[in-house]
Amino acid sequence: MCGIFGYVNFLVDRTRGEIVDNLIEGLQRLEYRGYDSSGIAIDGDQKGSNIIVKTPGKVQVLKQKIIDDKIERSTIFDNHVGIAHTRWATHGQPMIENCHPHRSDPSGEFIVVHNGIITNYRALKTLLLSKGFEFESETDTECIAKLFKHVYDTNLKAGISLDLNELTKQVLYELEGSYGLLVKSVHYPGEVCGTRKGSPLLVGVKTEKKLKVDFVDVEFPDPKQQAQQDAAINHAKHHGSIPEGLLPLASNESNLRTSQSRAFLADDGVPMPVEFFLSSDPASVIQHTKKVLFLEDDDIAHIYDGELHIHRAKKSAGESTTRQIQTLEMELNEIMKGPYNHFMQKEIFEQPDSTFNTMRGRIDFNNDIVTLGGLKAWLPTIRRCRRIIMIACGTSYHSCLATRSIFEELTEIPVSVELASDFLDRKSPVFRDDTCVFVSQSGETADSILALQYCLDRGALTVGIVNSVGSSMSRQTHCGVHINAGPEIGVASTKAYTSQYIALVMFALSLSNDSISKKNRHHEIIQGLQKIPDQIKKVLNLENQIKDLCDATLNDQKSLLLLGRGYQHATALEGALKIKEISYMHSEGVLAGELKHGVLALVDDKLPIIAFATRDSLFPKVMSAIEQVTARDGRPIIICNEGDKTVSDGKAFATLQVPLTVDCLQGLLNVIPLQLMSYWLAVNRGIDVDFPRNLAKSVTVE
Ligand code: UD1
Ligand code: F6R
Repeated sequence: MCGIFGYVNFLVDRTRGEIVDNLIEGLQRLEYRGYDSSGIAIDGDQKGSNIIVKTPGKVQVLKQKIIDDKIERSTIFDNHVGIAHTRWATHGQPMIENCHPHRSDPSGEFIVVHNGIITNYRALKTLLLSKGFEFESETDTECIAKLFKHVYDTNLKAGISLDLNELTKQVLYELEGSYGLLVKSVHYPGEVCGTRKGSPLLVGVKTEKKLKVDFVDVEFPDPKQQAQQDAAINHAKHHGSIPEGLLPLASNESNLRTSQSRAFLADDGVPMPVEFFLSSDPASVIQHTKKVLFLEDDDIAHIYDGELHIHRAKKSAGESTTRQIQTLEMELNEIMKGPYNHFMQKEIFEQPDSTFNTMRGRIDFNNDIVTLGGLKAWLPTIRRCRRIIMIACGTSYHSCLATRSIFEELTEIPVSVELASDFLDRKSPVFRDDTCVFVSQSGETADSILALQYCLDRGALTVGIVNSVGSSMSRQTHCGVHINAGPEIGVASTKAYTSQYIALVMFALSLSNDSISKKNRHHEIIQGLQKIPDQIKKVLNLENQIKDLCDATLNDQKSLLLLGRGYQHATALEGALKIKEISYMHSEGVLAGELKHGVLALVDDKLPIIAFATRDSLFPKVMSAIEQVTARDGRPIIICNEGDKTVSDGKAFATLQVPLTVDCLQGLLNVIPLQLMSYWLAVNRGIDVDFPRNLAKSVTVE
């Protein structure tokens, strides 16, 4: 799980200092993807030389190292490729040797940054060691850099000079696993290849002149070449190693570039000044350009001479032959912290807007009609399905749990909720008449993507509930809903939870909109949804009370119990997860009905307990659980509805009072005090809230 960033300028003069600044700024916006080490690679002063600076720690540490190393800043380049990386360790500890970029050899003929995991790296390493390569790190990525050199040298020995795209294709034949990858080389100055499989990668394009067309043609090998490639792949499969003089037997003339990218063809035939930004996330590109092309799995983007070419090794039937250059609607200020100290705090306070945006244009509150553009055509099929399986991880999983009951009530279709990893571990049976709903903020979570692939392979209908437009899950599902919560940068998911919750409720409402018997319930829920943004605003006013509560009783505690029942069980689990991940305090969400089956043994006058006792049909049962706690001298903090005397007159240590809404929506309001509590517990403990230890925002490894 890492972020990769590349910057290419062509006929645009940039000093080395400006290039470095671009790379660093790009990395800083990707830091949420991993932040245990980072590095950059740029051209050196001598022809064929390069400069690699890398260090464990956050991008700020890298920035300082570049200053300390006195990297010269004034040399001007009119064509240059810089690549950069921010890492979250998967293979090898976060130490300097393991930081990216990685190189093929001490002179850095090929330099690579990589996000993902190469699963056959051990076999590759053994082979490359036998060819005399010496490894500097414990990473899987280093194999890729060395493989580039090996394949390049082998072809050269056979008298074949490949262009960078052909070379990349040949290297990819040998790689198994997932990757987002950039490679630069002294043999191909001013050129870069970027490719992806299972990890995101996009290309931002900045030109002064308008592009001629807003798409790029995909280039495929000619059929003869493809047959040669197939034969070579078979050879590799059967012999299990890289054949000497590796595939395919490309012509010596392959360096002759015959095609031109239509989008970049200048009217007067003169090349256009252009800058390219390659990145794992549009958030790091948006300050430079809104024109973005999302690569598909197995695409190779080859940038040279101011042109972007997209190549694929193979043409399959029905495959798209172009890639759109899209215009992003995201604004830079959407990804900045604004007046807040942390992204997490900003995102908590954004929830009146983000929840509103999830519903914007989708609910007609006057006529109680919900229209989800991305699902409309699929609703009849979904209504006929045998069951709905919701699949997700972490907080996204909790949003499924929170809405399962209303889903079943409204749709009368059985709903199961699955953790993606467990679902895969069990090899759970999936059938063609199942609807599998994948819920994810990032749309890039490896476990969820693997589960998605599993369900696609079995012919099920797949639906995405995703925040990141253009993410792998959003593109690989048959249909879905973008929750439109805006970019979530803080590692702890907050606004995505409330928006996922609302999107799922809207989904259930859409599925059941033809049911006359549900009309009143629909009306009640839709009117309830309309008030949610304002009610969230009210709950956010509890911040000072929550801060005081943390100071008075919770800061020094080691453990915390959260009790909820029915709709609030999910809220208890989500609250406990937030507290754990941000403040490192042990916390546990418990189904209140289970208290007497074991957990009660923990209760005494010291253990802090938070109980959800908002008004719904289970209120009496929750109150009885609270009685059990107070009977053991427990002094619970109770989250209840405004002015509820039954609760506030009892033995509560404190109450946090939230507005009343419809039972199935109450969790949207009840979770907010827990988000604030986890935030303040963490801040009081001096924890960097946006970067909790051992965690990263986008979990792109299994
Ligand atoms: C779409 C536009 C929105 C525009 C609106 C106007 C996009 C991304 N959204 O929103 O900018 O204002 O029309 O009518 O262009 N999808 C998946 N899987 C997912 C999520 C979405 O396949 O996980 C698909 C949907 O089925 C749909 C498309 O992506 O085909 C866009 O989904 P969504 O943004 O939710 O659609 P609209 O709300 O209609
Ligand atoms: C918790 C958190 C994680 C994510 C989980 C799934 O605050 O952020 O538990 O919810 O890693 O991520 P997505 O939703 O991106 O699939």
